[in-house]
Amino acid sequence: MRISDASLPGELAKLGVAVRAGVWLAELTSLGIGGTTDLLRITRHDSIPTLVELLEERQIPYRFLGGGSNLLVGDGELPWIVLQLAKPEPDVTLDGNFAHVDAAADLGRTVTYCAKHHLGGMEGLIGVPGTVGGALRMNAGAYGMQIGSYVREVKLYRTAKRRIEILRGEQISFEYRHTSFAADDMMLAVTLELPSKPYQEILQGIRICNQKRRSSQPLGQKSAGCIFKNPPGASAGRMIDELGLKGLSVGDARVSDRHANFFVNAGQASAKDMLRLIADVRSRVEQAYGLKLENEVVVWNA
Ligand code: EPU
Repeated sequence: MRISDASLPGELAKLGVAVRAGVWLAELTSLGIGGTTDLLRITRHDSIPTLVELLEERQIPYRFLGGGSNLLVGDGELPWIVLQLAKPEPDVTLDGNFAHVDAAADLGRTVTYCAKHHLGGMEGLIGVPGTVGGALRMNAGAYGMQIGSYVREVKLYRTAKRRIEILRGEQISFEYRHTSFAADDMMLAVTLELPSKPYQEILQGIRICNQKRRSSQPLGQKSAGCIFKNPPGASAGRMIDELGLKGLSVGDARVSDRHANFFVNAGQASAKDMLRLIADVRSRVEQAYGLKLENEVVVWNA
């Protein structure tokens, strides 16, 4: 979607919002899939309520984009624009065992920055791509830990209430790859409380997780991480693998040979290809196991 209103760019500039016209979202997503739209980059959190008001007055639909690493975006000209936070400098500040982190901060860099200051706990998240805001919204986790365990406070824009709010950790529920945030809440910043640990010890934990990840996941390829959530007590990857579906393809969308719950873009896959592959695998698993796999990847398809 293109912003056609000529008066808007001037008003956006006053809010510290930069417009990038006709951005190809395939370049902003780890899957390398997604059509084109205008992108607005936000430099000041406090401008968001006015920005949203402006867009709604002009009936311009919008979505909030994080790091694009757990996202499957539709093809072609997209029917909404995209809002994204610009990364401030610094994006992490430490105060004792508390880390105040901007939602636009890179998750992996945040983990290593905290580690260097002897704050641990998040070693398992080291190889998870994306922003801290995205990790928070999905309650990203790996190797027995999840980010929600360390959240003490979250600053967010609540679209339903048209305002910025601060929630305490106890007001949010963090479950397996799910949180109580609304789909249109925009994460702005988080305070994490992390356990003190010597850097060398954290580094050792990070090395072990990196090694496990490298040996079991297709890290060099374009993917959105795991496509399906694990059903309670089961592994989606193992079930898909047991059905012999590694390598199954629709166009360039392909079930990874390394980990069957990773679907990779092996070339020029379209969203249509990827969605057909997801539907096909879901129905084969359902036929074989009587279990309907739920998406872990977020789909923005129209
Ligand atoms: N397995 C197979 N074949 C496969 C893949 C896995 O047999 O192709 C088996 C493994 O051998 C293992 C079991 O299935 O016995 C579980 O596999 P793995 O340890 O790789 O973990 P997972 O349950 O598939 C989860 C998360 C990952 C996270 C890892 C490590 C989900 C959906 N996935 O994967 O998170 O990195 O554990 O903690 O919860 C993601 O969220 O995008 C993601 C990749």
